[in-house]
Amino acid sequence: MDQVAITGSGVFTPSEIITNDELVVAFNAYADRFNAAHADAIAAGEVDAMAHSSADFIVSASGIEQRFVMDKTGVLDPAVMHPLLRQRSDDEPGIMAEMALDACTKALTQANVAAENVDAVIVAASNHERAYPAIAIEVQDLLGCGGFGFDMNVACSSATFGIQAAADMIRSGSIAKALVVNPEICSAHLEWRDRDCHFIFGDVCTAVLLEREADATGPRFTIRSTRCATQFSNNIRNNNGFLRRTRPDGLADRRDMQFMQNGRKVFKEVLPLVSAHIQDHMTDEGIGADDLKRLWLHQANKSMNDFIGRKVLGRTPEPGEQPNILQDYANTSSAGSIIAFSRHSADLTPGDVGLICSFGAGYSVGSVLVERRG
Ligand code: COA
Repeated sequence: MDQVAITGSGVFTPSEIITNDELVVAFNAYADRFNAAHADAIAAGEVDAMAHSSADFIVSASGIEQRFVMDKTGVLDPAVMHPLLRQRSDDEPGIMAEMALDACTKALTQANVAAENVDAVIVAASNHERAYPAIAIEVQDLLGCGGFGFDMNVACSSATFGIQAAADMIRSGSIAKALVVNPEICSAHLEWRDRDCHFIFGDVCTAVLLEREADATGPRFTIRSTRCATQFSNNIRNNNGFLRRTRPDGLADRRDMQFMQNGRKVFKEVLPLVSAHIQDHMTDEGIGADDLKRLWLHQANKSMNDFIGRKVLGRTPEPGEQPNILQDYANTSSAGSIIAFSRHSADLTPGDVGLICSFGAGYSVGSVLVERRG
């Protein structure tokens, strides 16, 4: 069987930033408007008044300081409270394909590989802008890749599950090179009017190029093994789909068609699942905590990552051993661990071993054990 290596990675970062302070000003203005509009019902005890959000809470609960978004004007307008993304015509590239193009081009350039030599494009993300044709086929067409493309969705674990799928195809010999792309427009499936979660997400797109190790021409990360696991849970859920739900009064109920979570339960249930998953994966590969140079974790919450790092390494991680990017990007769903990998891997030297791990809705958890070579 062929060995597989990650030979390139790329990150597309949107140009617009929303700081916590900006976000909280907009949210609080919306809350004030809501409370004024429902003053009588609130006074009668029929409607709950909306409480203010706070930037201090956001940083202490999550570690997030800002997020990049595709459109901030709509999100920060208390009369709108969602991104205003222009509906593209069928004749122009979709917004996800456009983000993907940038991230893929960076990954291909780093790997020194021409797009025409790529055999498969996998667009693995939490939400896709349309049902079909697959975004991946559009990306394949725009880049000029050969072979085939398909979309997949395992929520925040989409990147690692996509890497496993691509690596298995390369190992089996059905393809030689694949792009795994994660365009995440999380701002479009976040309820910005919900204080409990309005600060959580940001937008980004990541890409990695996988190829047969034997074909790699430069520095690379050989994939020693991958491992994926799922366990059903309703604690992170988005009901958006073709079954449009309506409330008994006939009005469209949008709340369950956006991201929803029981954050406390997620925190409590996902941490042991992920820690055990990583530890088992390392044990089966004969890798001890001291053999691991870096952990590139999913980026949802700083306390969660601190906990997992401590559990896996058996001590507090040294600065740089478990890099976080969520202070700048917030939770970018499947792309988070790949941003961390892309931004914080160039300094590793041949023989260094690291682990990429993403986790989230499903529940789902995926890990990729890599070794620096070349
Ligand atoms: N501003 C100010 N206060 C807020 C607030 C906000 N934006 N949001 C919530 N609060 C308040 C709550 O009302 C609550 O008040 P109370 O104690 O008086 O009831 C208090 O802060 C704590 O709220 P809670 O939701 O329990 O916070 P938390 O410490 O659990 O942190 C999360 C919330 C979401 C950051 C945290 O649960 C988390 O990260 N969970 C896992 C998330 C995750 O990984 N999800 C996966 C998605 S892919």
